[in-house]
Amino acid sequence: MDRYEIAIVVGSLREGSINRKVALSLCAMAHERLNCDIVGINDLPLYNQDSDASPPEQFERFRKEIAAADGVLFVTPEYNRGVPGVLKNAVDVGSRPYGKSVWNQKPAAIVSASPGSIGGFGANHQLRQAAVFLNMPVMQHPEAYLGHVNDDSFDAGGKLKDGPLKDLVMSLSNAFADWVHLIHESRRLLAPK
Ligand code: FNR
Repeated sequence: MDRYEIAIVVGSLREGSINRKVALSLCAMAHERLNCDIVGINDLPLYNQDSDASPPEQFERFRKEIAAADGVLFVTPEYNRGVPGVLKNAVDVGSRPYGKSVWNQKPAAIVSASPGSIGGFGANHQLRQAAVFLNMPVMQHPEAYLGHVNDDSFDAGGKLKDGPLKDLVMSLSNAFADWVHLIHESRRLLAPK
């Protein structure tokens, strides 16, 4: 069975982030097919196009880690009905210098989680808009707006408790592993012999 390296990018810097816990739970459920690592975004300076000629080392580190991955799992909260600034900054950092975007062609999934009932739908779709522009094949289904997620959704070890949320994350996990495999397998088949 093929196993793929996945970069997890979490849109929250909060220590107790529910989104980080969802990301780690999702990946743990598919550990036989996905090997996931969180790629940190908390040390990234604000992107400034002037730095393209001589980028800060944090940009180089981030770009290298994303470039090495077979796929990207974004899991993000919604801030004021949009993508948190720290995550948008990371997306912008990875997209430059022009023509050298590390997001290009990476299969991805976008998951949003919130204690609210809309489940971060606004942030999820705002991020999708950027992903389309960045030429990332993004998994369509199951849709992943996880509402009513809070500290009670997890046990003391940070794992999802049994219930409908865990079942949904399990189906997302399987679908994402299938999606990454499908994209890589199609490329292999279509590659010139
Ligand atoms: C929020 N929160 C929030 N929730 C939501 O569903 N829609 C929203 O637009 C917002 N806006 C918002 C703005 C700001 C500045 C903060 C700090 C929070 C609540 C948010 O979903 C909640 O704090 C989550 O727990 C954040 O996710 P993490 O950090 O737990 O992963």
